[in-house]
Amino acid sequence: MPQLTVVNRAGEESTINVQDGLTVMEAIRDNGFDELLALCGGCCSCATCHVHVDPAFKDRLPPMSEDEDDLLESSDHRNADSRLGCQVSFTADLDGLKVTIAQED
Ligand code: FES
Repeated sequence: MPQLTVVNRAGEESTINVQDGLTVMEAIRDNGFDELLALCGGCCSCATCHVHVDPAFKDRLPPMSEDEDDLLESSDHRNADSRLGCQVSFTADLDGLKVTIAQED
């Protein structure tokens, strides 16, 4: 099973196995990281699934939609590596990806 490494807001790293077909947000939420609120349930309208993605994987991520871009714009913690976890499907191609949960807005 492909693996995802998650860094929480305290800087602690954990590696989890991700079932095929989940998004990065679902994988994080389902593994008990309560810092990732994902309030809208993944319909790209809350930005509480904001993560920073390891730049080494940037080329393998799905392109960012206009809606995702607009929502991220509302975050004070946006940087060049920002994505909404619910908009990134975790495929085998992303095995070894590392994401950091963004600070709360
Ligand atoms: S869970 Fe709401 S935007 Fe991702």
